[in-house]
Amino acid sequence: MLNTSRPRRNRKSHAIRSLMRETTLTVDDLIAPLFVINGKNKIDHIESMPGYARLSRDLLVKEVKELSQMGIKCVSLFPALDDSFKDKFATESKNPNGLLQTTIKDIKDAVPEMLVMTDVAMDPYSSDGHDGLVDDKTGEILNDETLDILAAMAIAQAEAGSDIVGPSDMMDGRVARIRAGLDESSFTNTLIMSYTAKYASSFYGPFRDALDSAPKAGDKKTYQMDFSNRVEALREIELDEKEGADILMVKPGISYLDVIKDMKDHTKLPVAAYNVSGEYSMVKAAAERGWLDGDKIALEMLTSFKRAGADMILTYFSKEVARMLD
Ligand code: PBG
Repeated sequence: MLNTSRPRRNRKSHAIRSLMRETTLTVDDLIAPLFVINGKNKIDHIESMPGYARLSRDLLVKEVKELSQMGIKCVSLFPALDDSFKDKFATESKNPNGLLQTTIKDIKDAVPEMLVMTDVAMDPYSSDGHDGLVDDKTGEILNDETLDILAAMAIAQAEAGSDIVGPSDMMDGRVARIRAGLDESSFTNTLIMSYTAKYASSFYGPFRDALDSAPKAGDKKTYQMDFSNRVEALREIELDEKEGADILMVKPGISYLDVIKDMKDHTKLPVAAYNVSGEYSMVKAAAERGWLDGDKIALEMLTSFKRAGADMILTYFSKEVARMLD
């Protein structure tokens, strides 16, 4: 029988495949998360994230220079603080001379063209290890009491030079409260990348090792989303759009490609995806054993994020992938 439809014709050679390609991953899509620690000339390897380290400010600035030379345009900063900087109210998060704020300034002085994104949530600063304020009697995470703390934190970050604040706490109403706070302080040009659909996930384990930020009691299921749910993400999209978010995010990534696709189909805002720490560590661990080709897996994973509809990706693979794409 005559076979007129032969999809293989379009896969015949490298050149033909290049012409046919629907999705392309580029260095412009990448946001590199970085962990900063106090001290000088300090590099502190993270055991559960092979190849990744917490860096003191001086080394972090060097790293940012390198990333910039490789074409990466945005970094996302996370401060790893010891317990002496943590308290119930995340007070340190507002300190203009604190670790995060001074790191932002250092980066902006040394590499002004690099976009700096910062996380808005209490956990790196909280003695309770939660993203919101904890009621000591009931253990409840107090929503509305947290919002003022988040707004003050976002303003402190914007004051230090953060270009994009990323509320990762999943409190209700945070985007509106942060937007109002920023605008009242004349930071109308600071973007909000909302962690719109952030799931209560076990994929965050290595990140919590990196920051020593695991909850002291309970879990995050009363604020982060149930991983069984899809439609609930649509509700969060509507709220974040109404509240004034500039970019919407899905987190984690690889187990949530359906949510990325849904989000892309339901919003006109740009969509980001977070390829989280556990996703990175799984690939690294298997690659170390020679069970997988880590580089190829990273490219395949990140391309699948884009195919699903992500416009940008936060990933610990940023530097390696930038090198591969070069
Ligand atoms: C904290 C925060 C987390 C991540 C980013 N911001 C962890 C959490 O919610 O417990 C996870 C990132 C990763 O695993 O790479 N608000």
